[in-house]
Amino acid sequence: MNSKIEQLLAEVEKFTADTEQKIEEFRIAMLGKKGALTQLFDDFKTVSVEQKKELGQKLNVLKNKAQDKIKELKDRLGESNKGLVLDVDKTLPGVRNGVGTRHPLSMVKNEIVQIFNRLGYVTAEGPEIEDDWHVFSALNFAPDHPARDMQDTFFINSDSDNPILLRTHTSSVQVRVMEKQQPPIRVVCPGRVFRNEDISARAHCIFHQVEGLYIDENVSFADMKQTLLYFTREMFGENVEIRLRPSYFPFTEPSAEMDVSCTICGGKGCNICKHTGWLEIMGCGMVHPNVLEACNIDSKKYSGFAFGMGVERIACLKYNIPDLRMLLEGDMRFLRQF
Ligand code: DAH
Repeated sequence: MNSKIEQLLAEVEKFTADTEQKIEEFRIAMLGKKGALTQLFDDFKTVSVEQKKELGQKLNVLKNKAQDKIKELKDRLGESNKGLVLDVDKTLPGVRNGVGTRHPLSMVKNEIVQIFNRLGYVTAEGPEIEDDWHVFSALNFAPDHPARDMQDTFFINSDSDNPILLRTHTSSVQVRVMEKQQPPIRVVCPGRVFRNEDISARAHCIFHQVEGLYIDENVSFADMKQTLLYFTREMFGENVEIRLRPSYFPFTEPSAEMDVSCTICGGKGCNICKHTGWLEIMGCGMVHPNVLEACNIDSKKYSGFAFGMGVERIACLKYNIPDLRMLLEGDMRFLRQF
């Protein structure tokens, strides 16, 4: 019993706590109904008469020390809480929780998609991890075509005839839609794409595109031009002009690249448009008959156009952002401006 008292004394001496809960736990462990000290007082009843005096004194000392310790810790806690309360200036206004807003990239993507939704295009999505068929083969890229190389692809598994890869463009979604659905087809396909490119102010290895596809009987190049003019004026304002330059994509024939008159200088020439007065914003063209046939659509009966644009590029032009990396850094000082 003597040694147990000594041990508890040491425990009481060294115990310290900085929360009310910990102090209370200590009190229960020592002085509660089943506490260590209460137990000792019970045992004390069976002690021989000779020992009673000495052990009784020791027990009382232990009990007083435990009680003093609890009081001391409680007082100390009270003091520090008091200090805290006094330090607060109750006249200061409270801190409000900020209300979240959409990311500028989401805003621009939604705006693009909504403009086409108003023209009757429905939104379609596809997987980011794709196979070679949907990204290249069905889109008329020959097996050894340099365009496959051009797109510097992240391959996941290139062992099989149909390698698995991260899609390099959202054109893969038009293949998925055409495989499932016969014309008339009008879809916009927003999504994230991946290319093994060096990161710079103008390029990133992960970025976003919106793809569009319209297939029906008698769809013409003029239909495409008018659709894209409508889109551009909704996006950048009534006064912008567009221009189509001949280009090459395996999946369209003829193919074109579309420029808008510079949104900064209005076409007079400035640093942003490199003094040309024009800014390139998308690729487009009439869907190649081989693509239609690869997706089991009769290319004699149906024709159509497709287009694809980068969301980061449109966002940079619309908001005059000099470096697309700013869109991805998550800096609140930047993001709060939208
Ligand atoms: N897929 C092309 C790219 O990533 C963009 C594009 C060009 C899409 C022409 C199209 C198109 O649908 O017709 O650069």
